[in-house]
Amino acid sequence: MTSPGKYKIAQIAGDGIGPEVIGEARKIADHSGKKHGFEIEWKDYPFGASHYLKTGEILPETAIKEMEDMDAILLGAIGDPRVKPGILERGILLTLRFHFDMYTNLRPAKKYPRVPIPIRMPEDKILDILVVRENTEDLYMGMGCASDGPISYEMNIKRGLYELSGKLDLKLTPSTPSAVQLGIASEKGVRRITARACREADSRGLQTFTLASKSNAMPQLYGFWEEVASDEAEKHGMEMKMVNVDALCYHLVRNPWEYGVILCPNLFGDIVSDLLAGLAGGLGVAAGANIGDRLGMYEPIHGSAPDIAGKGMANPVAAILSASLMLSSIGENEAAGDIESAVSAYLQESDDEDLPVELGGNATPEKAGQLILERIL
Ligand code: IPM
Ligand code: MG
Repeated sequence: MTSPGKYKIAQIAGDGIGPEVIGEARKIADHSGKKHGFEIEWKDYPFGASHYLKTGEILPETAIKEMEDMDAILLGAIGDPRVKPGILERGILLTLRFHFDMYTNLRPAKKYPRVPIPIRMPEDKILDILVVRENTEDLYMGMGCASDGPISYEMNIKRGLYELSGKLDLKLTPSTPSAVQLGIASEKGVRRITARACREADSRGLQTFTLASKSNAMPQLYGFWEEVASDEAEKHGMEMKMVNVDALCYHLVRNPWEYGVILCPNLFGDIVSDLLAGLAGGLGVAAGANIGDRLGMYEPIHGSAPDIAGKGMANPVAAILSASLMLSSIGENEAAGDIESAVSAYLQESDDEDLPVELGGNATPEKAGQLILERIL
């Protein structure tokens, strides 16, 4: 941290609706600071598809260096149909997650008032699940290649916990073009994320959490996960329930209220968190936090939605909830709680027309932001 009560935060508003929704999130974070006695110094970065198309630059080393002295990154949305999928996602999002070893991805899926959901909930149940996604290993390591002939792939990958080097030689007979992608789990990697899941479950007053696994088909990788995670859970006095991820998806659609904290290896976490965002009322209210031992990155899970950009139709709630996650991670818990309550109150109390377009109203992002802000001041 820069000095007590002062934070330096990098803003990457990004593409499409990114700037509209991040603008509201930032306004609300600043006003919360005035109320709770902290101040944010923002540094704007232009990265994203438009910047890349204009300049060819994705994420320069100098910017990453600057961010090393900051407290957080608030990100809007990145992507544009004119850029080949993967370039910016890997070049910006994954690079930042890996560089700063943001090994935890927290993705709350909560049913907010008046946000319609696609399933019928019993009156006495609530939908409030936290996905704790491992964010640096698994099939996301970036190890792999495609080849027209034999595979001969040399890797040299640096992560927060280790450097990984070696060579993979594979031959298919008869030869046919093929591709390979490797996943890895390390003991340290699994222990630290399991410890986080235990703390999150504990702070929700739970004695148990669920691990999304798939050891029936991939016993090496996910059998290792189960063994290490259950040992770590035991150390924390937590009960860990193992469920194969396919069955988990089935149960989540039918009775999501039975789940609290779900720990997931990286790829399963990516998928399960989108499933839950869909169940809990859509991407318009789904926020995410990428957290490590240094600065974290906070982002709405939705994309850049270029089709509605600039039309006053974007829903800023997910970005505002991401700012709340950001404030809670940097220690401003009261401000974070305030924002969450203000969002709930806004959704609960507003006239129909004052809801975001996505929720059946006609509020612009500014209007929605303003109505949330009024409930904070
Ligand atoms: C997410 C996204 C990213 C991921 C993509 C854009 C690389 O889907 O944050 O969930 O797979 O992690
Ligand atoms: Mg995803």
